[in-house]
Amino acid sequence: MAPRKIIIDTDPGQDDAVAILLALASPEDIEVLGITCVAGNVPLELTARNARIVCELAGKTDIKVFAGCDAPLERPLVTAEHVHGKTGLDGPTLPEPRMPLAEEHAVAFIVETLRDAAPGTVTLCPLGPLTNIARALQKAPDIADRIAGIVLMGGAYFEVGNITPTAEFNIYVDPEAAAIVFGSGVPITVMPLDVTHKALVTKARNDAFRALGTPVGAAVAEMTDFFERFDKEKYGSNGAPLHDPCVTAYLIRPDLFSGRHVNVEIETGSDLTLGMTVADWWGVTDRAPNATFIGEIDADGFFALLTERLARL
Ligand code: BDR
Ligand code: CA
Repeated sequence: MAPRKIIIDTDPGQDDAVAILLALASPEDIEVLGITCVAGNVPLELTARNARIVCELAGKTDIKVFAGCDAPLERPLVTAEHVHGKTGLDGPTLPEPRMPLAEEHAVAFIVETLRDAAPGTVTLCPLGPLTNIARALQKAPDIADRIAGIVLMGGAYFEVGNITPTAEFNIYVDPEAAAIVFGSGVPITVMPLDVTHKALVTKARNDAFRALGTPVGAAVAEMTDFFERFDKEKYGSNGAPLHDPCVTAYLIRPDLFSGRHVNVEIETGSDLTLGMTVADWWGVTDRAPNATFIGEIDADGFFALLTERLARL
């Protein structure tokens, strides 16, 4: 089968970085048409910097990296330096990027790429707030029918929230954008906290990255070393959750994941539960299903895949 064409929309972020590295290491499965950056974990200037650092770490300086929206559609930006550090990519010491940013705006790139490609051949992979994707859908509603699917990291149901008691960070930062995306009619697959909190970098898994003996293996181990302190302190968990790599792993090995096709609505009105992903897991409403909400992962299979692919870089 030909590799799946994707656009990665991202706010790196250590876990975004690992998701990007996995995609770039898997050319037989994934063709990365471009990386579009959005403000999220840290402001746009840093996410656009970090995405290029990651491409250079992978030795893939030919990938086009675009800067996109620097703030959510209707709200001030909320960032997560308390999780990801001041740069968003704290942990390893990596050189400043030398590859330039593409001149075009990320939203224009998303629209043009979808209009130029045959319908149903490009998958969008958002790993951060959904601002760029929503803006593209607002600007060019015709692209909705051309998108093969959206596989995104965001939301939570049984795990409820990480940035507030009821909301996951990516959805909370731009709930209006999320509501546009979930209401778009595009086939959506969601990697919520329910699954990503099962993809934990235990010590043995971290040792396996380091044992690769490569700059990429060392950088990934150092990123997860840094990133894990937040979740260990908060949840008492056994290591850093690799949220965003669940998206790119799903493209390569969907058999490692399972979930339910359900209705998911986004709360945009309540101060108390802003950004909540209300997933009708038990089918108690007659609202039409609009997303496949993933709940389970074969974590050992996921880490075996990740380690094997990272070894190629
Ligand atoms: C999500 O928020 C960010 O902190 C991570 O990069 C991930 O995309 C997890 O809630
Ligand atoms: Ca992210």
